[in-house]
Amino acid sequence: MTLRLGDIAPDFTQQSTQGEIAFHAWTGDSWAILYSHPRDFTPVCTTELGYTAKLADAFAQRNVKVLAVSVDDLESHQRWVGDINETQNTTVNFPILADSDRKVADLYDMIHPNANTTLTVRSVFIIDPAKKIRATITYPASTGRNFEEILRVIDSLQLTDGYSVATPVNWEDGDDVIIVPSLQDPEELKKRFPKGYTTIKPYLRITPQPNR
Ligand code: BEZ
Repeated sequence: MTLRLGDIAPDFTQQSTQGEIAFHAWTGDSWAILYSHPRDFTPVCTTELGYTAKLADAFAQRNVKVLAVSVDDLESHQRWVGDINETQNTTVNFPILADSDRKVADLYDMIHPNANTTLTVRSVFIIDPAKKIRATITYPASTGRNFEEILRVIDSLQLTDGYSVATPVNWEDGDDVIIVPSLQDPEELKKRFPKGYTTIKPYLRITPQPNR
């Protein structure tokens, strides 16, 4: 199934290292990251999962729950988590789905047969509290993902939802942002952006990051 931005993230129930997860109920009112790992006991995945564990506070501050997927079974995951904790000097504190029947991998189209017929690629789905898919990122198995970029995308999405702004090229937290073109009423602009804004072109208006 092709999943597109704005689609409702498919619901599922699957076993995990923290018990059975009914996905929509588990996410509740949180944002969620669902991300796949080609398989257990692989080096790049080991570093990614360790780094994710170290970002627990950063995800919690953003009201994001993290859920990993790998197409191996629970017993394998549990042994692998021991290796991750040992080698990455951390404690894996989020669930890993035991997707040996590929229920979730197939539902989210995480196996790209022309890349590999059995292993998942590195998919990331960023899902909002309304269960909508807001961003997807796909990397090959050989390239570890940049989790600072994942946090940056979440920050951008949450700013858009909260303040009707978009983020420009290479934006980082604290940089100026762009007022969405649909906002045109001068009174509303004054109210929403009390720090003021600069009009470079009618469609390109810059304002300080509203929540800083
Ligand atoms: C890894 O996670 O290290 C990996 C997995 C599949 C292919 C290449 C690397």
